[in-house]
Amino acid sequence: MENFTFKNPTEIIFGKGQIQTIAERLPKGSRILVTYGGGSIKKNGVYDQVKTALDGYTWFEFSGIEPNPEFDTLMRAVQQVRDEKIDYLLSVGGGSVLDGTKFIAAAVPFEGDPWDILAKGAEVKQALPIGCVLTLPATGSESNGNSVVNRRSSHDKLPFFSPLVYPQFAVLDPTTTYTLPRRQVANGVVDAFVHTVEQYLTYPVDAKVQDRFAEGILQTLIEDGPRALEEPENYDVRANIMWSATLALNGLIGAGVPQDWATHMIGHELTALHGLDHAQTLAVVLPAVLHKQREHKRAKLIQYARRVWQLSGTDEEALIDGAIEATRRFFEQMGNPTRLRDYDLDETIIDPLVAQLEAHGFTALGEHGDITPADAKAILRLAA
Ligand code: NZQ
Ligand code: ZN
Repeated sequence: MENFTFKNPTEIIFGKGQIQTIAERLPKGSRILVTYGGGSIKKNGVYDQVKTALDGYTWFEFSGIEPNPEFDTLMRAVQQVRDEKIDYLLSVGGGSVLDGTKFIAAAVPFEGDPWDILAKGAEVKQALPIGCVLTLPATGSESNGNSVVNRRSSHDKLPFFSPLVYPQFAVLDPTTTYTLPRRQVANGVVDAFVHTVEQYLTYPVDAKVQDRFAEGILQTLIEDGPRALEEPENYDVRANIMWSATLALNGLIGAGVPQDWATHMIGHELTALHGLDHAQTLAVVLPAVLHKQREHKRAKLIQYARRVWQLSGTDEEALIDGAIEATRRFFEQMGNPTRLRDYDLDETIIDPLVAQLEAHGFTALGEHGDITPADAKAILRLAA
Protein backbone atom coordinates (compact mmCIF):
# COMPACT_ATOMS: atom_id res chain seq x y z
CA MET A 1 0.00 0.00 0.00
CA GLU A 2 1.24 3.49 -0.75
CA ASN A 3 1.54 6.20 1.90
CA PHE A 4 -1.51 8.38 2.29
CA THR A 5 -3.29 10.98 4.37
CA PHE A 6 -7.05 10.83 4.66
CA LYS A 7 -9.34 13.52 5.97
CA ASN A 8 -12.96 13.95 5.04
CA PRO A 9 -14.64 16.73 6.99
CA THR A 10 -18.15 16.48 5.49
CA GLU A 11 -20.92 15.50 7.88
CA ILE A 12 -23.30 13.14 6.07
CA ILE A 13 -26.94 13.22 7.11
CA PHE A 14 -28.51 10.24 5.40
CA GLY A 15 -32.12 9.13 5.07
CA LYS A 16 -35.77 10.01 4.74
CA GLY A 17 -37.02 13.30 6.08
CA GLN A 18 -33.59 14.71 6.92
CA ILE A 19 -33.81 17.99 5.01
CA GLN A 20 -35.48 19.63 8.00
CA THR A 21 -32.28 19.15 10.02
CA ILE A 22 -30.32 21.69 7.99
CA ALA A 23 -31.55 24.43 10.30
CA GLU A 24 -29.56 22.84 13.14
CA ARG A 25 -26.43 23.09 11.05
CA LEU A 26 -26.62 26.55 9.52
CA PRO A 27 -25.00 29.23 11.69
CA LYS A 28 -27.61 31.49 13.28
CA GLY A 29 -27.56 35.00 11.89
CA SER A 30 -25.90 33.97 8.64
CA ARG A 31 -26.95 35.34 5.27
CA ILE A 32 -27.55 32.32 3.07
CA LEU A 33 -27.64 31.92 -0.69
CA VAL A 34 -29.61 28.88 -1.85
CA THR A 35 -28.24 27.80 -5.22
CA TYR A 36 -30.11 25.49 -7.56
CA GLY A 37 -30.52 24.42 -11.15
CA GLY A 38 -33.28 24.55 -13.73
CA GLY A 39 -36.20 23.89 -11.44
CA SER A 40 -36.37 20.14 -10.70
CA ILE A 41 -36.40 20.99 -6.98
CA LYS A 42 -39.55 23.03 -7.42
CA LYS A 43 -41.36 20.11 -9.05
CA ASN A 44 -40.42 17.43 -6.54
CA GLY A 45 -41.02 19.28 -3.30
CA VAL A 46 -37.38 19.64 -2.30
CA TYR A 47 -37.48 23.43 -2.63
CA ASP A 48 -40.50 23.59 -0.32
CA GLN A 49 -38.77 21.42 2.28
CA VAL A 50 -35.69 23.67 2.17
CA LYS A 51 -37.85 26.75 2.42
CA THR A 52 -39.60 25.40 5.51
CA ALA A 53 -36.27 24.47 7.09
CA LEU A 54 -34.93 27.98 6.49
CA ASP A 55 -37.77 29.65 8.35
CA GLY A 56 -36.29 32.46 10.42
CA TYR A 57 -33.08 32.72 8.39
CA THR A 58 -32.15 35.54 6.05
CA TRP A 59 -31.78 33.87 2.71
CA PHE A 60 -31.61 34.61 -0.99
CA GLU A 61 -31.69 32.37 -4.04
CA PHE A 62 -29.77 31.94 -7.26
CA SER A 63 -31.30 29.62 -9.83
CA GLY A 64 -30.33 28.46 -13.29
CA ILE A 65 -27.03 26.67 -12.69
CA GLU A 66 -26.88 24.41 -15.74
CA PRO A 67 -25.72 20.80 -16.09
CA ASN A 68 -21.98 21.29 -16.73
CA PRO A 69 -22.09 24.55 -14.79
CA GLU A 70 -21.20 27.59 -16.85
CA PHE A 71 -18.49 29.98 -15.75
CA ASP A 72 -20.46 33.06 -16.85
CA THR A 73 -23.55 31.97 -14.90
CA LEU A 74 -21.47 31.33 -11.80
CA MET A 75 -19.82 34.74 -12.05
CA ARG A 76 -23.29 36.29 -11.91
CA ALA A 77 -23.82 34.46 -8.63
CA VAL A 78 -20.45 35.72 -7.39
CA GLN A 79 -21.71 39.25 -7.99
CA GLN A 80 -24.93 38.55 -6.09
CA VAL A 81 -22.98 37.13 -3.14
CA ARG A 82 -20.82 40.24 -3.01
CA ASP A 83 -23.80 42.59 -3.39
CA GLU A 84 -25.95 40.90 -0.75
CA LYS A 85 -23.06 40.22 1.64
CA ILE A 86 -23.85 36.51 1.68
CA ASP A 87 -21.74 34.42 4.05
CA TYR A 88 -23.06 30.87 3.57
CA LEU A 89 -23.91 28.89 0.43
CA LEU A 90 -26.52 26.12 0.39
CA SER A 91 -26.46 24.00 -2.76
CA VAL A 92 -29.71 22.17 -3.55
CA GLY A 93 -29.59 19.80 -6.52
CA GLY A 94 -27.16 17.58 -8.41
CA GLY A 95 -23.41 17.61 -8.93
CA SER A 96 -23.48 20.54 -11.32
CA VAL A 97 -25.20 22.84 -8.84
CA LEU A 98 -22.77 21.76 -6.14
CA ASP A 99 -19.66 22.06 -8.34
CA GLY A 100 -20.85 25.48 -9.40
CA THR A 101 -21.44 26.45 -5.77
CA LYS A 102 -17.91 25.33 -4.88
CA PHE A 103 -16.57 27.58 -7.58
CA ILE A 104 -18.67 30.51 -6.33
CA ALA A 105 -17.38 29.84 -2.80
CA ALA A 106 -13.78 30.03 -4.00
CA ALA A 107 -14.27 32.88 -6.47
CA VAL A 108 -15.92 35.38 -4.10
CA PRO A 109 -12.82 36.06 -1.96
CA PHE A 110 -10.36 35.40 -4.80
CA GLU A 111 -8.05 38.27 -5.68
CA GLY A 112 -7.64 38.47 -9.44
CA ASP A 113 -9.51 36.70 -12.23
CA PRO A 114 -11.29 33.63 -10.80
CA TRP A 115 -10.88 31.86 -14.15
CA ASP A 116 -7.23 31.37 -13.08
CA ILE A 117 -8.44 28.93 -10.40
CA LEU A 118 -9.43 26.62 -13.26
CA ALA A 119 -7.08 27.54 -16.07
CA LYS A 120 -3.89 28.12 -14.10
CA GLY A 121 -4.46 26.10 -10.97
CA ALA A 122 -4.27 29.29 -8.90
CA GLU A 123 -4.32 28.51 -5.18
CA VAL A 124 -7.62 28.88 -3.34
CA LYS A 125 -6.70 30.56 -0.07
CA GLN A 126 -10.22 31.19 1.23
CA ALA A 127 -13.73 30.02 0.45
CA LEU A 128 -17.21 30.61 1.79
CA PRO A 129 -18.69 27.68 3.77
CA ILE A 130 -21.00 25.34 1.85
CA GLY A 131 -23.85 23.07 2.86
CA CYS A 132 -25.58 20.71 0.46
CA VAL A 133 -28.87 18.95 -0.17
CA LEU A 134 -28.10 16.38 -2.85
CA THR A 135 -30.79 15.18 -5.26
CA LEU A 136 -28.74 13.17 -7.77
CA PRO A 137 -26.32 10.45 -6.69
CA ALA A 138 -23.42 10.42 -9.16
CA THR A 139 -20.44 12.66 -8.69
CA GLY A 140 -19.48 12.26 -5.04
CA SER A 141 -19.18 16.06 -5.02
CA GLU A 142 -21.25 16.10 -1.81
CA SER A 143 -18.27 14.77 0.11
CA ASN A 144 -15.16 15.86 -1.77
CA GLY A 145 -13.21 18.99 -2.64
CA ASN A 146 -13.54 18.68 -6.43
CA SER A 147 -15.41 20.89 -8.86
CA VAL A 148 -15.60 20.93 -12.64
CA VAL A 149 -16.62 24.10 -14.49
CA ASN A 150 -17.48 24.60 -18.12
CA ARG A 151 -16.79 27.63 -20.32
CA ARG A 152 -18.73 27.35 -23.54
CA SER A 153 -17.11 30.31 -25.29
CA SER A 154 -13.68 28.66 -25.25
CA HIS A 155 -14.75 24.99 -25.18
CA ASP A 156 -13.09 24.43 -21.83
CA LYS A 157 -14.23 22.09 -19.08
CA LEU A 158 -11.71 22.24 -16.27
CA PRO A 159 -11.50 20.87 -12.73
CA PHE A 160 -10.10 22.32 -9.54
CA PHE A 161 -9.59 20.85 -6.10
CA SER A 162 -9.41 22.59 -2.76
CA PRO A 163 -9.78 21.22 0.76
CA LEU A 164 -11.64 24.48 1.50
CA VAL A 165 -14.65 23.58 -0.65
CA TYR A 166 -15.69 20.29 0.93
CA PRO A 167 -19.31 20.79 1.99
CA GLN A 168 -19.59 21.16 5.76
CA PHE A 169 -22.64 18.93 5.64
CA ALA A 170 -24.54 16.99 2.99
CA VAL A 171 -28.13 15.83 3.32
CA LEU A 172 -28.67 12.62 1.35
CA ASP A 173 -32.38 11.75 1.30
CA PRO A 174 -32.88 8.91 -1.20
CA THR A 175 -36.55 9.82 -1.66
CA THR A 176 -35.46 13.04 -3.41
CA THR A 177 -34.09 10.85 -6.21
CA TYR A 178 -37.45 9.21 -7.06
CA THR A 179 -38.15 11.90 -9.66
CA LEU A 180 -34.90 11.53 -11.59
CA PRO A 181 -35.41 10.97 -15.32
CA ARG A 182 -34.09 7.60 -16.55
CA ARG A 183 -31.23 9.34 -18.30
CA GLN A 184 -29.99 10.86 -15.05
CA VAL A 185 -30.37 7.59 -13.15
CA ALA A 186 -28.20 5.97 -15.81
CA ASN A 187 -25.70 8.81 -15.76
CA GLY A 188 -25.39 8.65 -12.00
CA VAL A 189 -24.83 4.91 -11.85
CA VAL A 190 -22.30 4.97 -14.69
CA ASP A 191 -20.42 7.93 -13.18
CA ALA A 192 -20.13 6.30 -9.76
CA PHE A 193 -19.09 3.02 -11.41
CA VAL A 194 -16.34 4.73 -13.40
CA HIS A 195 -15.10 6.69 -10.36
CA THR A 196 -14.62 3.37 -8.64
CA VAL A 197 -12.89 1.83 -11.64
CA GLU A 198 -10.51 4.81 -12.02
CA GLN A 199 -9.18 4.09 -8.52
CA TYR A 200 -9.39 0.29 -8.53
CA LEU A 201 -8.44 -0.89 -12.00
CA THR A 202 -4.77 0.12 -12.11
CA TYR A 203 -2.09 -2.21 -10.73
CA PRO A 204 -1.98 -4.18 -7.48
CA VAL A 205 -0.42 -2.64 -4.38
CA ASP A 206 -1.89 -5.21 -2.00
CA ALA A 207 -4.47 -2.72 -0.72
CA LYS A 208 -6.98 -5.35 0.31
CA VAL A 209 -9.55 -3.19 2.05
CA GLN A 210 -9.62 -0.59 -0.74
CA ASP A 211 -9.97 -3.36 -3.34
CA ARG A 212 -12.77 -5.17 -1.58
CA PHE A 213 -14.55 -1.94 -0.80
CA ALA A 214 -14.33 -0.96 -4.47
CA GLU A 215 -15.60 -4.36 -5.54
CA GLY A 216 -18.53 -3.98 -3.14
CA ILE A 217 -19.46 -0.63 -4.65
CA LEU A 218 -19.23 -1.99 -8.20
CA GLN A 219 -21.35 -5.04 -7.38
CA THR A 220 -23.96 -2.89 -5.66
CA LEU A 221 -24.24 -0.65 -8.70
CA ILE A 222 -24.45 -3.65 -11.02
CA GLU A 223 -27.27 -5.13 -8.90
CA ASP A 224 -29.24 -2.02 -8.06
CA GLY A 225 -28.58 0.25 -11.06
CA PRO A 226 -30.97 -1.61 -13.37
CA ARG A 227 -33.46 -2.01 -10.50
CA ALA A 228 -33.59 1.76 -10.03
CA LEU A 229 -34.75 2.05 -13.64
CA GLU A 230 -37.45 -0.56 -13.12
CA GLU A 231 -38.55 0.39 -9.60
CA PRO A 232 -38.00 4.14 -9.28
CA GLU A 233 -39.64 4.34 -5.85
CA ASN A 234 -37.83 1.43 -4.24
CA TYR A 235 -36.28 3.17 -1.23
CA ASP A 236 -33.61 0.58 -0.50
CA VAL A 237 -32.44 0.52 -4.10
CA ARG A 238 -32.18 4.30 -4.15
CA ALA A 239 -30.44 4.33 -0.77
CA ASN A 240 -27.84 1.79 -1.88
CA ILE A 241 -27.11 3.74 -5.04
CA MET A 242 -26.87 7.02 -3.18
CA TRP A 243 -24.42 5.76 -0.60
CA SER A 244 -22.38 3.92 -3.26
CA ALA A 245 -21.97 7.12 -5.25
CA THR A 246 -20.74 9.03 -2.21
CA LEU A 247 -18.29 6.32 -1.17
CA ALA A 248 -16.99 6.02 -4.73
CA LEU A 249 -15.43 9.48 -4.58
CA ASN A 250 -15.04 10.62 -0.98
CA GLY A 251 -11.38 9.63 -0.81
CA LEU A 252 -11.81 6.32 0.98
CA ILE A 253 -11.21 3.82 -1.83
CA GLY A 254 -8.55 6.05 -3.40
CA ALA A 255 -6.39 6.22 -0.27
CA GLY A 256 -3.04 4.49 -0.69
CA VAL A 257 -3.66 3.20 -4.22
CA PRO A 258 -2.59 4.36 -7.70
CA GLN A 259 -5.28 6.22 -9.66
CA ASP A 260 -5.96 6.47 -13.37
CA TRP A 261 -8.46 9.28 -14.36
CA ALA A 262 -7.57 9.13 -18.08
CA THR A 263 -11.18 8.28 -18.94
CA HIS A 264 -12.41 11.37 -17.10
CA MET A 265 -9.90 13.74 -18.65
CA ILE A 266 -10.63 12.57 -22.20
CA GLY A 267 -14.34 12.58 -21.36
CA HIS A 268 -14.30 16.21 -20.20
CA GLU A 269 -13.04 17.27 -23.64
CA LEU A 270 -15.87 15.32 -25.27
CA THR A 271 -18.40 17.23 -23.19
CA ALA A 272 -16.72 20.58 -23.81
CA LEU A 273 -16.57 20.08 -27.58
CA HIS A 274 -19.63 18.00 -28.34
CA GLY A 275 -21.98 18.42 -25.38
CA LEU A 276 -22.31 14.77 -24.36
CA ASP A 277 -23.43 14.24 -20.76
CA HIS A 278 -20.50 13.53 -18.45
CA ALA A 279 -21.44 9.87 -17.93
CA GLN A 280 -22.11 9.33 -21.63
CA THR A 281 -18.48 10.28 -22.29
CA LEU A 282 -17.33 7.81 -19.64
CA ALA A 283 -19.37 4.99 -21.16
CA VAL A 284 -17.66 5.64 -24.49
CA VAL A 285 -14.11 6.12 -23.27
CA LEU A 286 -13.71 3.59 -20.45
CA PRO A 287 -14.03 0.34 -22.46
CA ALA A 288 -11.50 1.70 -24.95
CA VAL A 289 -9.06 2.72 -22.20
CA LEU A 290 -9.30 -0.73 -20.61
CA HIS A 291 -8.67 -2.35 -23.96
CA LYS A 292 -5.72 -0.11 -24.85
CA GLN A 293 -4.13 -0.39 -21.37
CA ARG A 294 -4.77 -4.11 -20.95
CA GLU A 295 -1.11 -5.01 -20.47
CA HIS A 296 -0.54 -2.39 -17.75
CA LYS A 297 -3.80 -3.33 -16.08
CA ARG A 298 -3.55 -7.10 -16.64
CA ALA A 299 -3.47 -8.27 -13.02
CA LYS A 300 -6.31 -5.98 -11.91
CA LEU A 301 -8.40 -6.72 -15.01
CA ILE A 302 -8.23 -10.41 -14.16
CA GLN A 303 -9.15 -9.71 -10.53
CA TYR A 304 -12.02 -7.52 -11.78
CA ALA A 305 -13.21 -10.28 -14.12
CA ARG A 306 -13.21 -12.89 -11.38
CA ARG A 307 -14.41 -10.94 -8.36
CA VAL A 308 -16.79 -8.40 -9.85
CA TRP A 309 -18.18 -10.24 -12.88
CA GLN A 310 -17.64 -13.76 -11.46
CA LEU A 311 -16.03 -14.96 -14.67
CA SER A 312 -14.11 -18.21 -14.41
CA GLY A 313 -11.47 -20.09 -16.36
CA THR A 314 -7.71 -19.85 -16.77
CA ASP A 315 -7.49 -18.19 -20.19
CA GLU A 316 -6.36 -14.70 -19.16
CA GLU A 317 -7.15 -13.05 -22.48
CA ALA A 318 -10.67 -14.44 -22.39
CA LEU A 319 -11.15 -13.18 -18.83
CA ILE A 320 -9.99 -9.68 -19.78
CA ASP A 321 -12.11 -9.56 -22.92
CA GLY A 322 -15.07 -10.90 -20.97
CA ALA A 323 -14.73 -8.25 -18.27
CA ILE A 324 -14.47 -5.38 -20.75
CA GLU A 325 -17.45 -6.73 -22.67
CA ALA A 326 -19.50 -7.13 -19.48
CA THR A 327 -18.68 -3.52 -18.55
CA ARG A 328 -19.84 -2.32 -21.96
CA ARG A 329 -23.06 -4.35 -21.72
CA PHE A 330 -23.76 -2.94 -18.27
CA PHE A 331 -23.46 0.66 -19.46
CA GLU A 332 -25.72 -0.12 -22.41
CA GLN A 333 -28.23 -1.90 -20.18
CA MET A 334 -28.38 1.27 -18.06
CA GLY A 335 -29.06 3.26 -21.22
CA ASN A 336 -25.67 4.78 -22.03
CA PRO A 337 -24.38 3.71 -25.46
CA THR A 338 -20.65 3.02 -25.62
CA ARG A 339 -19.50 4.11 -29.09
CA LEU A 340 -18.88 7.55 -30.54
CA ARG A 341 -21.07 6.66 -33.50
CA ASP A 342 -24.03 6.15 -31.16
CA TYR A 343 -23.83 9.92 -30.52
CA ASP A 344 -23.45 10.76 -34.23
CA LEU A 345 -19.74 11.41 -33.89
CA ASP A 346 -17.11 9.94 -36.22
CA GLU A 347 -13.31 9.80 -36.38
CA THR A 348 -13.03 13.37 -37.67
CA ILE A 349 -13.55 14.62 -34.10
CA ILE A 350 -10.46 12.86 -32.78
CA ASP A 351 -7.64 15.19 -33.84
CA PRO A 352 -9.28 18.42 -32.65
CA LEU A 353 -10.26 16.74 -29.39
CA VAL A 354 -6.75 15.54 -28.67
CA ALA A 355 -5.42 19.00 -29.57
CA GLN A 356 -7.61 20.41 -26.75
CA LEU A 357 -6.31 17.74 -24.37
CA GLU A 358 -2.76 18.86 -25.22
CA ALA A 359 -3.69 22.53 -24.89
CA HIS A 360 -4.96 21.80 -21.39
CA GLY A 361 -1.68 20.06 -20.53
CA PHE A 362 -3.14 16.56 -20.20
CA THR A 363 -0.34 14.85 -22.10
CA ALA A 364 0.73 12.21 -19.58
CA LEU A 365 -2.45 10.51 -18.38
CA GLY A 366 -3.13 7.29 -16.53
CA GLU A 367 -1.71 5.64 -13.43
CA HIS A 368 1.73 5.47 -15.04
CA GLY A 369 1.50 8.90 -16.69
CA ASP A 370 2.27 7.22 -19.99
CA ILE A 371 -0.88 7.90 -22.02
CA THR A 372 0.40 10.41 -24.57
CA PRO A 373 -1.71 12.38 -27.05
CA ALA A 374 -0.95 9.65 -29.62
CA ASP A 375 -2.33 7.06 -27.20
CA ALA A 376 -5.41 9.20 -26.57
CA LYS A 377 -6.01 9.18 -30.32
CA ALA A 378 -5.69 5.40 -30.40
CA ILE A 379 -8.16 5.14 -27.51
CA LEU A 380 -10.69 7.33 -29.30
CA ARG A 381 -10.28 5.30 -32.49
CA LEU A 382 -11.08 2.18 -30.46
CA ALA A 383 -14.17 4.01 -29.18
CA ALA A 384 -15.38 5.03 -32.63
O1 NZQ B 1 -31.17 21.61 -13.12
P1 NZQ B 1 -32.29 20.81 -12.53
O2 NZQ B 1 -33.63 21.31 -12.92
O3 NZQ B 1 -32.15 20.64 -11.05
O4 NZQ B 1 -32.25 19.35 -13.21
C1 NZQ B 1 -31.14 18.47 -13.10
C2 NZQ B 1 -30.30 18.44 -14.38
O5 NZQ B 1 -31.05 18.76 -15.50
C3 NZQ B 1 -31.66 17.07 -13.02
N1 NZQ B 1 -31.97 16.63 -11.65
C4 NZQ B 1 -31.15 16.64 -10.57
N2 NZQ B 1 -31.78 16.07 -9.52
C5 NZQ B 1 -33.02 15.73 -9.92
C6 NZQ B 1 -33.15 16.08 -11.29
N3 NZQ B 1 -34.28 15.88 -11.99
C7 NZQ B 1 -35.31 15.30 -11.34
N4 NZQ B 1 -35.25 14.90 -10.04
C8 NZQ B 1 -34.13 15.10 -9.31
N5 NZQ B 1 -34.05 14.66 -8.05
O6 NZQ B 1 -30.61 16.27 -13.52
C9 NZQ B 1 -29.92 16.98 -14.52
C10 NZQ B 1 -28.44 16.73 -14.41
O7 NZQ B 1 -27.93 17.27 -13.23
P2 NZQ B 1 -26.35 17.43 -12.98
O8 NZQ B 1 -26.17 18.09 -11.66
O9 NZQ B 1 -25.69 18.02 -14.16
O10 NZQ B 1 -25.86 15.91 -12.89
P3 NZQ B 1 -24.69 15.24 -12.09
O11 NZQ B 1 -24.97 15.18 -10.65
O12 NZQ B 1 -24.44 13.97 -12.81
O13 NZQ B 1 -23.44 16.22 -12.28
C11 NZQ B 1 -22.65 16.21 -13.43
C12 NZQ B 1 -21.54 17.23 -13.31
O14 NZQ B 1 -20.61 16.88 -12.27
C13 NZQ B 1 -19.28 16.85 -12.81
C14 NZQ B 1 -19.51 16.49 -14.25
O15 NZQ B 1 -18.39 16.76 -15.05
C15 NZQ B 1 -20.72 17.32 -14.61
O16 NZQ B 1 -20.33 18.65 -14.88
N6 NZQ B 1 -18.45 15.95 -12.00
C16 NZQ B 1 -18.10 16.34 -10.75
C17 NZQ B 1 -17.26 15.59 -9.95
C18 NZQ B 1 -16.89 16.03 -8.59
N7 NZQ B 1 -17.25 17.23 -8.17
O17 NZQ B 1 -16.24 15.29 -7.85
C19 NZQ B 1 -16.67 14.33 -10.42
C20 NZQ B 1 -17.29 13.82 -11.65
O18 NZQ B 1 -16.37 12.98 -12.28
C21 NZQ B 1 -17.83 14.80 -12.62
O19 NZQ B 1 -16.78 15.27 -13.46
ZN1 ZN C 1 -17.26 11.44 -13.12
